[in-house]
Amino acid sequence: MYKKVTVPSYAKVNLHLEVGTRRDDGYHPLSTVFQKIDLHDTITISYKAAHQFSCVVRGLEALGCLPGKDSLSLAARAWCRRVGLPLDIVLEVEKRIPSGAGLGGGSSNAAAVLSVLNSMHAGYALEQDALMALGAALGSDVPFFLTGYPAALGEGRGEILTPLVSGEGSVLVVMPKGFSVSTAGAYLNLDELRAVQAVQDDIFTFGKDDVGRLSDILKQSPGLWPFKNDFRHVCPHQEFYEELVLRGSHYPQVYGNLTGSGAAWVFVGRSTGEILNIKNEISTFFGARVGIMYANLL
Ligand code: C5P
Repeated sequence: MYKKVTVPSYAKVNLHLEVGTRRDDGYHPLSTVFQKIDLHDTITISYKAAHQFSCVVRGLEALGCLPGKDSLSLAARAWCRRVGLPLDIVLEVEKRIPSGAGLGGGSSNAAAVLSVLNSMHAGYALEQDALMALGAALGSDVPFFLTGYPAALGEGRGEILTPLVSGEGSVLVVMPKGFSVSTAGAYLNLDELRAVQAVQDDIFTFGKDDVGRLSDILKQSPGLWPFKNDFRHVCPHQEFYEELVLRGSHYPQVYGNLTGSGAAWVFVGRSTGEILNIKNEISTFFGARVGIMYANLL
C-alpha cells in the first residue's frame, strides 16, 4: 500500500539580486531578497517501502525532461540515498510555475519532495542543517524553500538565509512566450559583460547587518524600493524588458523587475486594483506574446 501526501510547491521572486565575482568553485556570491508568492505547483507524493529505489514522475511530459533528471526525481533519489532508505515513489505534479522563468519552480519542487520524505520518516529524518546541505547540493535556491520563511535575505550562493518580514502585496508575473533563460548561461553573460567593462564590484548593498532596514524597506510602498537585479542588462530580448519598464513607469507605486536570471518579469504593488490595471495594459499590448499570472506575496 502506498502512502500518499499532497502539498503545494510555491514559487519565489527575487525582489533584489546583486551578483559578485565568480568564486573558485564556479558559483557567484549573491545578495538577494527572496520572497515567496502563492503561485504554486501541486505535488502528490506516493511512496512505499521497497528493496531498491525507484521513482516515477508524472506531469512533466511537456517540459521534455530526461527521465530521472528532473528536480523532483533527483531530490527523491538524493534523500533516499542519504538516509539509506530505498523507497518506491510515484510523484504527480500539476505544473503552474513556468520553467526558465527565475521563479524557482524546479528548486521549490525539489524542496517539497525533500520536506515530505523527511517529515514522513521520523526514524530516518535528517536534522534541518543536514537537510539544508542536501538541498544546497541539488540547487542554490532549494535551501530557501526548505526554510519555510516567506521572505529572506540570501547570501553565499543563495544558501545562507536570514528571515525578513515583508508586507502584503499583489504580484503580476509576466512570462515571455518564445524564450526562456538558462541560469548558467545568464551567469556567463554577466561574467563576459564584467570582463569587458572591468567592473568587479563585490560590495553588496545589503548584508546580514541590514535585515532590520530591509524589513523596513519591504513595508514601504513598492514604488520606493531601492532594489535592483544585476541580470537585468544581460538577459536576451532587451527590447521586451524595456517595454515592460515603460509600461511600469505609468504606475509609480509599483515595483517592477526581472526575477532571478529571468525570463519572467514581476510587478509588485500594494493595491490589487493597480496590479489589475497593469495586467490589462500588458495583455492589451503584448497579447499572446506573454503568459500573465496574478499572485500574492506570502
Ligand atoms: O545552483 P543551481 O543549480 O541553481 O545553479 C545553476 C548554475 O547557475 C550553476 O551551475 C552556476 O553556473 C550558476 N550559479 C552561479 N552562482 C550562484 C548560483 C548559480 O554561478 N550563486
